Amino acid sequence: MTRATARAHPNIALVKYWGKRDEAQMLPAAGSMSMTLDAFATTTTVEVDGTLTEDAFSLGGAEQTGVALDRTTRFLDVVRSLAGDGRRARVRSHNEAPTAAGLASSASGFAALALAAAAAYGLDLDERALSRLARRGSGSATRSVIPGYAVWHAGTDDASSYAEGIEAPDLRLVIVTVDGSPKSVSSRRAMRLTAATSPFYEAWVSSTEQSLTEMVRACADGDVPRIGALTESHALRMHAVIATSTPPVRYLAPRSIEVFDAAVRLREAGVTAWATADAGPNVCVLTTPAEAEAVAAAVAEHGEVRIVGPGPGAHLLAEHLPEP
Ligand code: ADP
Ligand code: DP6
Ligand code: CO
Repeated sequence: MTRATARAHPNIALVKYWGKRDEAQMLPAAGSMSMTLDAFATTTTVEVDGTLTEDAFSLGGAEQTGVALDRTTRFLDVVRSLAGDGRRARVRSHNEAPTAAGLASSASGFAALALAAAAAYGLDLDERALSRLARRGSGSATRSVIPGYAVWHAGTDDASSYAEGIEAPDLRLVIVTVDGSPKSVSSRRAMRLTAATSPFYEAWVSSTEQSLTEMVRACADGDVPRIGALTESHALRMHAVIATSTPPVRYLAPRSIEVFDAAVRLREAGVTAWATADAGPNVCVLTTPAEAEAVAAAVAEHGEVRIVGPGPGAHLLAEHLPEP
């Protein structure tokens, strides 16, 4: 097949990935854990075309150049070397979530691209191999290959750094979009800065391993309050260590903090509500299916709200995105 289309969804980390031990292989400094969502899909069509001299990449109908095109080409180079096929490709992609706003567009984007490109170049990869491939595009994409809840094992080399599914209670995230505009510092760059300059980085990495162990246990036990407490505290630790970089980076906006405060007040009123945020100002409030509507109503004043649950892993589609 020379053309293939895949769909993948973003994931929100409950135990966050922030820092690499090996940027060439995209090995993380610590493991992480997430929920793949049932909303905000990315759909990507890859067409291998022997007449092209360069790859082409359009996102949301806009032809990409510079860093975004470069990142796609470097990822396709990995696929080409696995396939032993040097032909260039035309990539068309569409994100339903805002791009580069801390709602994991790089996760859904590279999970969809990994599967579409693998199929278009004739690679037949199992879930683990696909997860490892997606990792080369964006660390968080490692987990978006997997449906529902996933742990990304940090590993020590390419073969041992992949995500796999775990059992966890059925939960919902109330996504509060306080600002959908692109972040001024990409996750890639800010992560590098934190690792290189924060005096607290080593403590962050070792405490993340600890948080992951506790999170996996809480999921197996079906202990929702424990899952929530670990989620919120780990998110705050990540934003704290990011803020201690030189120069400092801050992703949370005043309105993001208001949502964290709203979660505290909801808990005081006996409602399940724990806040988290990735590298951007948009906040997700973790709750149960039964309480999701009430939580959404309580935080609606802070931004556009959407209730999401665990969703599917990356999968192929029979229909292709139209030419622009
Ligand atoms: P986010 O919080 O959205 O994941 P990042 O800074 O991690 O933000 O990554 C954003 C970058 O990911 C974009 O600038 C682009 O290079 C890449 N990206 C986003 N969506 C796609 C996509 N659908 N296909 C390929 N690359 C994508
Ligand atoms: C805060 O996966 O976007 O969302 O690997 O450099 O592409 P790269 O970064 P990315 O970082 C995600 C950071 C996070 C936490 C998480 O998803 O675990
Ligand atoms: Co990202």
